[in-house]
Amino acid sequence: MQIIHTAAELRAQLKSQASIGFVPTMGNLHAGHMHLVEIAKQQAQCVVVSIFVNPLQFGANEDLAGYPRTLDADCEKLKAAGAHIVFAPSVAEMYPDFDGHNLNQSMSITPPPIAHELCGASRHGHFGGVATVVMKLFSLIFFNGASRQVAVFGKKDFQQLFIIKELVKQFNLPVEIIAGETMREPSGLAMSSRNGYLTPEQRATAAQLQQGLQKIVSAIQQGNKRYSDLEQQLTQELNGKGWAVDYISTRSAVSLAPVTANDTHLVVLAAAKLGNTRLIDNIDFFAPGS
Ligand code: PAJ
Repeated sequence: MQIIHTAAELRAQLKSQASIGFVPTMGNLHAGHMHLVEIAKQQAQCVVVSIFVNPLQFGANEDLAGYPRTLDADCEKLKAAGAHIVFAPSVAEMYPDFDGHNLNQSMSITPPPIAHELCGASRHGHFGGVATVVMKLFSLIFFNGASRQVAVFGKKDFQQLFIIKELVKQFNLPVEIIAGETMREPSGLAMSSRNGYLTPEQRATAAQLQQGLQKIVSAIQQGNKRYSDLEQQLTQELNGKGWAVDYISTRSAVSLAPVTANDTHLVVLAAAKLGNTRLIDNIDFFAPGS
């Protein structure tokens, strides 16, 4: 396995690859990330994993400085999993006009309107930052016209996955996006690098979010269509248990638009804070049509 820090070296190494499977990450790898690496291995001969904590997708009051950076441990895991290339660039490598303080990224991707709903309603600029860095990474990795070019993203970040699929469609990018299922702790808690911020007491109750979403899914599957009642009930229940719910929302899993009578593939998405830690989760499922 090679660990590469520069775009030029990455390009040189990928030049002759006929089939590339790419897994973009911000590092601090857990079993969720490793699941995506396994999928990439099944799909392509050369598996590239990027590790880059992207400043452009963090808001001013978010956890950029404290985000866990564990490159050595991450590389050990990726080597054991059979990844071929780790791309771990510096901020200056990804943002050519970075002056040590400001990124000075003078052009960026404008994400679709859905980027301002759900997580985007409270994380202004987040999905534009994600789309811009993913576009940069794709243009470094998928430049050589390899016959098979896939990138794997987790359903854990359902809205992100949707926006990346839209990026590929709108910019005619020569890459197939594959979705990986959400990996969970035995309690049901979705694995996340941010779970490390939780105290032991918070970790013991953090699965309440997923359990609540599961209750909404069961109700809908039994024919309940009063989505906003179900969402409000869960919001109150969680807030009563010490959470601060940001949103709980049932949407079409295909368009992320509000559910219409014809939709059968749905997703219920949530974001909520436990102490200072913001957790997200979702469940996509099939419901009886009208
Ligand atoms: P990061 O949070 O490190 O996640 C990298 C990938 O792992 C994403 O596709 C995410 O959906 C997936 N992932 C996270 N937790 C998961 C879980 N429990 N099960 C399955 N997959 C999981 O998402 C980002 O980084 C960044 O926004 C990035 C796309 C790299 C752009 O900077």
